[in-house]
Amino acid sequence: MQEMKLGIVGCGIISEAYLLGAARSRIVAVKSVTDINPDAAKARAEAFGVAAVGFEEMLADREIDIVVNLTVPQAHAEISHRALAAGKHVYSEKPFAVTYAEAREMVQAATARGLRIGSAPDTFLGAGHQTVRTLVDEGRIGKVVAGAVTFATPGMEMWHTNPFFFFQRGGGPVLDIGCYPITQLVNCLGPVESVVAHASKGRETRVVTTEPHNGREIRVEVPTTVNGALAFRNGANIAFTASWDVWKHTRQPIELYGTEGSILNPDPNFFGGTVKVSAKSGDWQEVSISGRPFGAPNRELRNGNRVADYRMAGVFDMAAAIRAGRPHRASGEMALHVLEIMEGLERASAEDRRIPIESTCERPAPVLPGDGEEVFL
Ligand SMILES: NC(=O)c1ccc[n+]([C@@H]2O[C@H](COP(=O)([O-])OP(=O)(O)OC[C@H]3O[C@@H](n4cnc5c(N)ncnc54)[C@H](O)[C@@H]3O)[C@@H](O)[C@H]2O)c1
Repeated sequence: MQEMKLGIVGCGIISEAYLLGAARSRIVAVKSVTDINPDAAKARAEAFGVAAVGFEEMLADREIDIVVNLTVPQAHAEISHRALAAGKHVYSEKPFAVTYAEAREMVQAATARGLRIGSAPDTFLGAGHQTVRTLVDEGRIGKVVAGAVTFATPGMEMWHTNPFFFFQRGGGPVLDIGCYPITQLVNCLGPVESVVAHASKGRETRVVTTEPHNGREIRVEVPTTVNGALAFRNGANIAFTASWDVWKHTRQPIELYGTEGSILNPDPNFFGGTVKVSAKSGDWQEVSISGRPFGAPNRELRNGNRVADYRMAGVFDMAAAIRAGRPHRASGEMALHVLEIMEGLERASAEDRRIPIESTCERPAPVLPGDGEEVFL
């Protein structure tokens, strides 16, 4: 069967992972790439044997089925809207948009045109997180009543080549990285009803320590530490910490506490990892994640750790879903709900009150052992 054709907009750091992912896929193929910086598009086009084109040319190309939006967050809504208006399905990097209102318009525009819209994060499709989903669905820890999320690092200015956007409106640790654990929580527990939070800025300015902007000062416009709580519709009460003000800590990425035991969920920034479960206060038992797609380590991090990183699984799933006429898992509805939760955390602090969450979404279908074939076909 012919692959679905992709056009990639935005040829920065993350585009390499998408182009590598597409090159391994039998369900999608990249036809062209574009960027407001033509040199960036040219470099990726030459490296991967695809065409570098202007955005208008990409939109006018009738062969392109899905536009993959890998621009900076501040450009996501405009690029996605223009692609939808040109009749393309859209898959966006996270955050889906900078505001909930913008994202809602995008979902409405896609629905009105009968087009698919999806968004990263897609890490919840990974073997580690799907194993946790199965444990929760099977009731291994009874009813999940509480939990805790921690994502805390020193920041972005010491590794990213162009870290300025992370500290502007549309950046910050909640929008940048909070979507990973929140998406996994919604995958396991369903939608959120309301949030509370306290947000702060560790520093007013930061200094870039990587090339090419080494030594330049960044003015911090957004909170860099957010502590909050998510009240899920199913009754679970989950503590949430996202921070770029932390050098070192000992907290787990996601812990779920149930009436019959606890689960340790691996880092939701990646697809695999170690899953552990306890029966009540018994010892932690490791649960195998093998036999499911998107779990085997395939990438080495700067610190030497090997991780499973299958960014683009959400695009594969969307392409397979379009073919099969079923809902895609990394859906616009879920991304919209997650964005409202993230915006709610910042508003809860700024307005010093509990913020009700109006949107909702269905939990995506689980990825079960054996489902990989369908996604990779
Ligand atoms: N870098 C990562 O590890 C990583 C991981 C996961 C997700 N993401 C997300 O992916 C997105 C891109 O991140 P990145 O790290 O690749 O950033 P980047 O700054 O390296 O690349 C962004 C690219 O988009 C281009 N661009 C900006 N506005 C545009 C527009 N209007 N039209 C066309 N091109 C435009 C820029 O010229 C640049 O080449 C962000 O939303 C980010 O949150 C990044």
